[in-house]
Amino acid sequence: MTNRIWVFMTYGSIVGIPAMASLFVLAHYLFPGIAYVFEALLALALITNFITGMREIYIVSKPIPDKLVVEPVSHVPAEATQRGQGKAVNIVISRFNPDRGIIEKKEYSVAADKYTSVLSALIKVKNYQDNTLSIRYSCGMGICGSCGMNVNGRPSLACETNLLKSAENGKVEVSPMLAHPVMKDLVTNFDDFFEKHKAVSPHIYKEDAGEKYGHGGISRQSREDLVKFLPFSYCIMCGLCLDACPVENTNPNFAGPQALSQVYRYAEDSRDGKGEKRIEMVNSKDGIWGCEFAGACSEVCPKGVDPASAIQLLKAKKIGQMLDPNYCQGEKSGADGI
Ligand code: SF4
Ligand code: FES
Repeated sequence: MTNRIWVFMTYGSIVGIPAMASLFVLAHYLFPGIAYVFEALLALALITNFITGMREIYIVSKPIPDKLVVEPVSHVPAEATQRGQGKAVNIVISRFNPDRGIIEKKEYSVAADKYTSVLSALIKVKNYQDNTLSIRYSCGMGICGSCGMNVNGRPSLACETNLLKSAENGKVEVSPMLAHPVMKDLVTNFDDFFEKHKAVSPHIYKEDAGEKYGHGGISRQSREDLVKFLPFSYCIMCGLCLDACPVENTNPNFAGPQALSQVYRYAEDSRDGKGEKRIEMVNSKDGIWGCEFAGACSEVCPKGVDPASAIQLLKAKKIGQMLDPNYCQGEKSGADGI
């Protein structure tokens, strides 16, 4: 998954070596008797620069956010190897250090039994080995959607991922989701994600003001109408689908599988008053037509929402509209947005 390369850092050479050489020439001219001291200092600076200049850096196969360099840092506290019962598993965490602007890989060892989740292993690391580790979680049972991260490179909910089953040669790699800006360690910023979600008006819209603001109105819905959108309403907004989506990772303006699946969910809801106009809102290259149907979003979705199908169904609905002989007239009359 990762490639290593060795690089020679030359920043020290550019300024340091010419400066030392000038001092040496000056000293030779002014104090010929002690010039050998400067000569020795110059040789020492050259050797130090060569040794400290060699750095091993990692190139990871996933895109890294701007200004981030991945540096390996191995750290296995000896006393932590067997805390509690179970099998020792090494957990390698890619930790983003905001002060240094880099991702450091740190390795910890935890004891795991067959029930241990990746989240509980991370909590153990935080509680007993390194309390500087930042993680986000709440429910611990796949409902709140806040513990999303990459486990062995796959976007996953840490609380629903079994540690022992994920271990390859006794090791599990954990890193933050990269479709969202990393704030610290495994915690990512969801502002952009929520903005995209909000932009598609994810709520039932009523045209009729009496129905909208009046009291006592009941929106009835048959079971047949309910099942049309029910699977798409199970989204917990964990953001895993965005992390898996190749279009989202290359075009930040793409609405993304989560928001688009919610467009379909409300467009299909018989109680909603803006059904077809919702499709207009995402009828663009940053909307439904940006999707290349890679299907990775549906593959990683922990709730079976199937955003990839939702987007193709929206495309089919749009094409259906365009084939309608009244399409142009309908488009003009319904262009007021949501
Ligand atoms: S569609 Fe699935 S993967 Fe995407 S945010 Fe919703 S629950 Fe998470
Ligand atoms: S902690 Fe709530 S979904 Fe994982």
